[in-house]
Amino acid sequence: MENSYGRMFTITSFGESHGRCVGVVIDGCPAGLPVIEADIQKEVDKRKPTSPIATTRAEAEKVEILSGITEGYTTGAPVCLLIWNTDIDSTEYERIKSLPRPGHADYTSYIKYGGFNDYRGGGRFSGRITAGFVMAGAVARKLLGSINIEVLAHTVEIGGVIAGEKEPNEIRAAVEKNALKCADMKAAEKMLKVIEQAQAEGDSVGGIIEGMALNVPVGLGEPVFDTLEGDLAKALFAIPAVKGIEFGSGFSAAGKRGSENNDPYTIQNGKVVTTTNNAGGILGGISNGMPIILRVAVKPTSSIAVRQDTVDIREMKNTTIEVKGRHDACIVPRAVPAVEAMMAVTLCDFAMRAGIIPEVIK
Ligand SMILES: Cc1cc2nc3c(=O)[nH]c(=O)nc-3n(C[C@H](O)[C@H](O)[C@H](O)COP(=O)(O)O)c2cc1C
Repeated sequence: MENSYGRMFTITSFGESHGRCVGVVIDGCPAGLPVIEADIQKEVDKRKPTSPIATTRAEAEKVEILSGITEGYTTGAPVCLLIWNTDIDSTEYERIKSLPRPGHADYTSYIKYGGFNDYRGGGRFSGRITAGFVMAGAVARKLLGSINIEVLAHTVEIGGVIAGEKEPNEIRAAVEKNALKCADMKAAEKMLKVIEQAQAEGDSVGGIIEGMALNVPVGLGEPVFDTLEGDLAKALFAIPAVKGIEFGSGFSAAGKRGSENNDPYTIQNGKVVTTTNNAGGILGGISNGMPIILRVAVKPTSSIAVRQDTVDIREMKNTTIEVKGRHDACIVPRAVPAVEAMMAVTLCDFAMRAGIIPEVIK
């Protein structure tokens, strides 16, 4: 098992969906960073189910700081942050205990942990563990703020509806205005209809989240194995339901010519920049000073009411399953804060490894 991530800014995820709590321990957080519960709560609130298409699980999700922060400043000791689980209903999971949901982690975790895994609400494989990621991300974002790095994410596609391209200032201004976290309001209306249609049919849809990091200096990344893309991918694949990641022109680069895909250099205000950003801000696993641009594919929610084939794993018999319970018809909007968080945690770790973030913030 591996529940920790990062070399210098190390996060350890803990908790289960229907256990007592979910949370995170951050080890290596510099001292002197001003952090209060409200800073973390603000980020956690962004992942709350807010729309008619999301789960009806309605928790207060109140952040508690258990250690590492005193009188509003980090102390340099491990920071433990948690949220108590209060709105738990495991009845549906009792019913389907021996029937692995197609597309979920029930079968793989049952085999790997010999049936001892906490199956209730998906246990460690629930989207709820991303609450811990988001809490760590809130601290990481504050640290990155001290060196002027900003991380942003937004929905760019749901159920085949593609949003128009937007500038960072439009994304910043618009993303919290609709439940889908999409900066293109017209596309967001269409996306909502597609989700509602799928939901009415007991089904679900997936989509794509774009993440960007601005003002990243040249030089973050530790080739050859701890490349910036490699670690971002590792962190983002920890978000349940993430099934693909591309940087810059990504998979479309395979069909381009070098002359189209290369990013020409120029000097702007005394700085070396590129006139395009097909590299997504990373060359040779090292940040090149341009915005880091990545896209994350999120699969359709696996727990659906449509009847599907499965097996009874105890009786070793074929059967069928219709998943009831409380599930998002589309995970994408609620995964947006998790993408921001895991990008922030990764960049923080690399900035510390590069010595850009000191051990004490003054
Ligand atoms: C914020 C969030 C919420 C999620 N909610 C659900 C859900 O309600 N029902 C479900 O089946 N899967 C949900 N998932 C996805 C599953 O946890 C995930 O598909 C499962 O663990 C299998 O892992 P994999 O899809 O990465 O292979 C959610 C994921 C995230 C990030």
